[in-house]
Amino acid sequence: MENLVKVTFSLNGRQVEAEVLPTMTVLEMIRRNFRLTAAKEGCGKGECGACTVLLNGEPVNSCLKLAASLTVSDQIVTVEGLEKDATMQAIQHAFVSEGAVQCGFCIPGMTMTSYKLLQSNPDPDEHQIKQALSGNICRCTGYRKIEAAVKKASETRRNK
Ligand code: FES
Ligand code: FES
Repeated sequence: MENLVKVTFSLNGRQVEAEVLPTMTVLEMIRRNFRLTAAKEGCGKGECGACTVLLNGEPVNSCLKLAASLTVSDQIVTVEGLEKDATMQAIQHAFVSEGAVQCGFCIPGMTMTSYKLLQSNPDPDEHQIKQALSGNICRCTGYRKIEAAVKKASETRRNK
């Protein structure tokens, strides 16, 4: 049996510890050890964005990051950690009202990437939305409704 590695880091604002295999990814760890299942494994190769979480404020593909590489200063935020966040709520409502959700598999990653976009740019234009979401693949919706949802969420937040 491989040796387990003990890691300490922040998860959704709480300091946590986990014992992980050296080969375990952050995605596997948050899903298995912490039962946070919003982030999904689509490709497992950094191509689809379904596994997107925020690491130290930046969206990352958690399927590519080894859990054992986390340090005490690292902060991971998942969709579950933003359930009371007004921007994330606006994004989620807009995805629903614009019909941007079908099977839902890509949506946690889409909303995390959108969240980061609206944090850094509260009024993105169409090109900026497309560019921000270029690493997130959706096999159902055809993207137009997703882009409309991000635009709507940005308007909702700016009108508050
Ligand atoms: S599962 Fe991580 S990028 Fe596809
Ligand atoms: S809603 Fe099905 S993959 Fe995007």
